Amino acid sequence: MTRTVYVNGDYLPEDEAKVSIFDRGFLMADAVYEVTSVLGGKLIDFPGHLARLQRSLDALDIRNPLSEDDWLAIHRALVEKNAIDEGMIYLQVSRGSPGDRDFSFPDPETCAPTVVLFTQSKPGLADSPQAKTGIRVISIEDIRWGRRDIKTVQLLYPSMGKMMAKKAGCDDAWLVEDGAVTEGTSNNAWIIKGGKIITRQLSNDILHGITRASVLRCAAEAQMEVEERPFTIAEAQEADEAFITSASAFVMPVVEVDGVAVGSGKPGPVAMRLREIYLEEKRKAAI
Ligand code: PDD
Repeated sequence: MTRTVYVNGDYLPEDEAKVSIFDRGFLMADAVYEVTSVLGGKLIDFPGHLARLQRSLDALDIRNPLSEDDWLAIHRALVEKNAIDEGMIYLQVSRGSPGDRDFSFPDPETCAPTVVLFTQSKPGLADSPQAKTGIRVISIEDIRWGRRDIKTVQLLYPSMGKMMAKKAGCDDAWLVEDGAVTEGTSNNAWIIKGGKIITRQLSNDILHGITRASVLRCAAEAQMEVEERPFTIAEAQEADEAFITSASAFVMPVVEVDGVAVGSGKPGPVAMRLREIYLEEKRKAAI
């Protein structure tokens, strides 16, 4: 089935949607993005994703071309037009297409941002088989730039990391800097030790995950103890449990780190419980 996508104000069949070859997203990775999941045809954690979009745009001095109501209307229209029950919506805003290649930013008065959105249908997203077995991760050096808190489309190294993991027969990679885990290639990293849930504190070193923030709230409501600090790969290998969070994986147990089983080597009870609570609460609050 041909998807209907959104480009700069128009809803079009995917094979008719076009962006200029001079677009700065294409030439310079001068663009930011968001991924929002859809469950039961509704948007999960949407206000958080819009707030972070604004933060990313502000950090790069790109004008937000749409109002919050417009963003919501486009997301809802795409869910409806593509009959999405479970899946994701990808949105990207680039600085636009100045009609030539130049390192200097174009004049925002004459160069409007480019807006692209499309859906990805993923039936069974919430009831993922992987959540029942858990995933295996390797560690790799974090050689990304220093503003990982901005959600830019510079995803080459995370893609390479995913391929390194696949080559090693694993599912994903955790990035390590100065001896401590920053985050996963496309997710935030967590461990649990002695009943305490540990995840790295917010800074420019990691993306401020929307799912991370929601899971922290779920943990607090369930009276679970949380510590926000860096942890090492050795600590993860000695942890009782480990997991990742993201808009597309929700809470996903990690059962192996660099070939060493975490805890029992099976998805842990706390991670599974957090996944349940998260999904239950977020389905209720979905819009
Ligand atoms: N990735 N860290 C990184 C580097 C990410 O790319 C992501 C999200 C996260 C988790 O953020 P959130 O909980 O807001 O999804 C953390 C998205 C899902 C992606 O690139 O597809």
